[in-house]
Amino acid sequence: MISANFRAVLILISGLVIALTIGNCTADESEPRPTDAKPSRIVDGLDMDTGLVAEGEYLLVKGNCIACHSAKLVTQNRATREGWSQMLDWMQEKQGLWDLGPHREPILDYLATYYAPEESGRRPPLQDIEWYRLEDESPTD
Ligand code: HEC
Repeated sequence: MISANFRAVLILISGLVIALTIGNCTADESEPRPTDAKPSRIVDGLDMDTGLVAEGEYLLVKGNCIACHSAKLVTQNRATREGWSQMLDWMQEKQGLWDLGPHREPILDYLATYYAPEESGRRPPLQDIEWYRLEDESPTD
């Protein structure tokens, strides 16, 4: 009788331990990963560690996007915000990219701004144009 109770308690405790362990693991899984990437030397507006455009939330990208592959995979790609979003979904579904939590939106903003498709990028308005009048070159004779 006593030993049966004791066994029951043991089973209960080990169940609890397992539940806690699994609970902890899943909690860690959904935790956004290190985002405390350090700035490095910036030359010509590029982060020298990664080649990322050193503007906006680039440290979030540096902190989350170079753990599995070279930053070149990021910097050599161009996509719309939708396209980037699909790439992140794909990496999350197939490649074990973690949940980016509150960092997903700023990361997408950054990617869609600095790595937008070239053809959809608008030419900046012309400025400081020196206008001049064309000579009247109509034949005189
Ligand atoms: C958990 C690992 C992992 C992390 C973290 C990760 N990726 Fe990836 N990513 C991959 C793998 C694996 C591939 C496929 C690599 C290959 O094809 O050589 C890939 C491919 C890519 C590609 C190429 C996709 C294509 O269609 O060619 C881009 C762009 C990319 N990742 C961007 C990012 C960005 C941006 C982040 C940060 C938000 C990121 N990755 C974080 C694993 C990861």
